[in-house]
Amino acid sequence: MKIRRILLLLVLGLVFWAGGGGYGAWAGVPIPDLDIGQGGHCVADPLYMRLNHMNLLIHQRDQTVRQGIRGGPYSLAVCVDCHASKVNHSVLGTSRNFCQGCHEYVSVRIDCFECHSSEPRNTKAMITGQSRVVKESLK
Ligand code: HEC
Ligand code: HEC
Ligand code: HEC
Repeated sequence: MKIRRILLLLVLGLVFWAGGGGYGAWAGVPIPDLDIGQGGHCVADPLYMRLNHMNLLIHQRDQTVRQGIRGGPYSLAVCVDCHASKVNHSVLGTSRNFCQGCHEYVSVRIDCFECHSSEPRNTKAMITGQSRVVKESLK
């Protein structure tokens, strides 16, 4: 798993670097043309985020679910608020949507949106009714 992650990130890094930081075509290889969403500034440097978002999210989740610490900087709801497409109001749905697009490209499945909303908070509640069940099972 470690090796796989490093390889994926290396490939991504190379691809992004070769594309001048953008998502242009590179040596005929299709690169995801991601819809970044609202724009503005990410919660950390985009390159840092590309390499570390999974660790940040998992850490924040553990803090919230296990220790009850809320309102940290790496809230999934905050990512979705900003990265949801202005076209379909989601981070999922098509291979241009932010989370789905890149994850399809690197073939890494994430189950986060089975519970968390993939839409910004002004259009849908953050967590579905499953939340209580999960909290109980984590005790
Ligand atoms: C089975 C349902 C379920 C799944 C799947 C799930 N979560 Fe959660 N998650 C929860 C619940 C419930 C909470 C607690 C919400 C609260 O108490 O505020 C939570 C809290 C969090 C938090 C802290 C609250 C926030 O938004 O900052 C983060 C971050 C988080 N989850 C990330 C993830 C990530 C990343 C994944 C996928 C790897 C994931 N979750 C998958 C149910 C789930
Ligand atoms: C206020 C808006 C905003 C918020 C909130 C935000 N981002 Fe970002 N994010 C951006 C922008 C803008 C970029 C840079 C896009 C670019 O320059 O290519 C970016 C870049 C990224 C990248 C790198 C994409 C690439 O080009 O490789 C990842 C991964 C990422 N964000 C994940 C997250 C996660 C996870 C969260 C929540 C913890 C989050 N972002 C919160 C706006 C935001
Ligand atoms: C620029 C590409 C890119 C974007 C955009 C992106 N991811 Fe990722 N993500 C990756 C890569 C690469 C991995 C590492 C896969 C591995 O470790 O095998 C990863 C891993 C993860 C993991 C850990 C999965 C695991 O099982 O280890 C989670 C959770 C995750 N991403 C959530 C998100 C969420 C939520 C978003 C949207 C806010 C997002 N990602 C956007 C590329 C991206």
